[in-house]
Amino acid sequence: MSQDTRQDNKDSVVRAVHLKKTYFLDGVAVPALKEVNLGIAKGSFVSITGASGSGKTTFMNILGCLDKPTEGSYYLEGTDVSSLTPDRLADIRNERIGFIFQNFNLLARTSAMENVELPLVYAGVARHERQKKARELLEMMGLKGFEQHFPQQLSGGQQQRVAIARALVNSPSIILADEPTGNLDSKTSYEIMAILTRLNEQMGVTIILVTHEHDIAGYAQRIITFRDGLVVSDTVNK
Ligand SMILES: Nc1ncnc2c1ncn2[C@@H]1O[C@H](COP(=O)(O)OP(=O)(O)O)[C@@H](O)[C@H]1O
Ligand SMILES: [Mg+2]
Repeated sequence: MSQDTRQDNKDSVVRAVHLKKTYFLDGVAVPALKEVNLGIAKGSFVSITGASGSGKTTFMNILGCLDKPTEGSYYLEGTDVSSLTPDRLADIRNERIGFIFQNFNLLARTSAMENVELPLVYAGVARHERQKKARELLEMMGLKGFEQHFPQQLSGGQQQRVAIARALVNSPSIILADEPTGNLDSKTSYEIMAILTRLNEQMGVTIILVTHEHDIAGYAQRIITFRDGLVVSDTVNK
């Protein structure tokens, strides 16, 4: 497969071109991403895998507009986000990206409903509409009746389902999930992966998932492997 994706078709929702990221730690350069070129098609389900320290989270942070590349470009739906101001980046993050994290990242003193509503609060959506959408998504996640529960009153799997509902509430362009099953037992992990698969297959949601677990990576249609800040394999899975 060609390493140079400048010829990528313009349907790529995500495109990294000569992307590099170097951290500086006490004056020492740590090259976390050495040169990444790849495109991800809209509606696809991709796993990013690789050993600890290979650059997966660094790459996800750039895709999620949480961090910027040191060199090269990152295009999200054709917009070069590497050049945007922090304010604009925050808007893009809120409008176009849904995040799912290993530790769920729910607000502790906030109900499931309000956690799901939060991205809509930032987007300025009226209360009634926010609640309607949040309620629908919680029901879709099998959490009808749990709307007023606080995170600590929910199991890990339930908390991750609240987080998935929250990630979906803005109808984002991509869902980024960094080790979403890392804090779950294997049965719950498979339930979460079944939900992500269903969202991709039935609703066409683009999912980019980071995992170091082989069986979890196997749920995706395409598996990209990082090693030492480089893509070392990129294969079609099914
Ligand atoms: N904020 C940071 N400052 C300095 N080095 C970092 C920072 N974040 C990550 N690194 C380094 O960058 C490399 C890639 O890290 P990371 O992207 O977290 O890998 P992975 O998610 O695959 O475990 C590692 O060598 C790591 O130590
Ligand atoms: Mg990581």
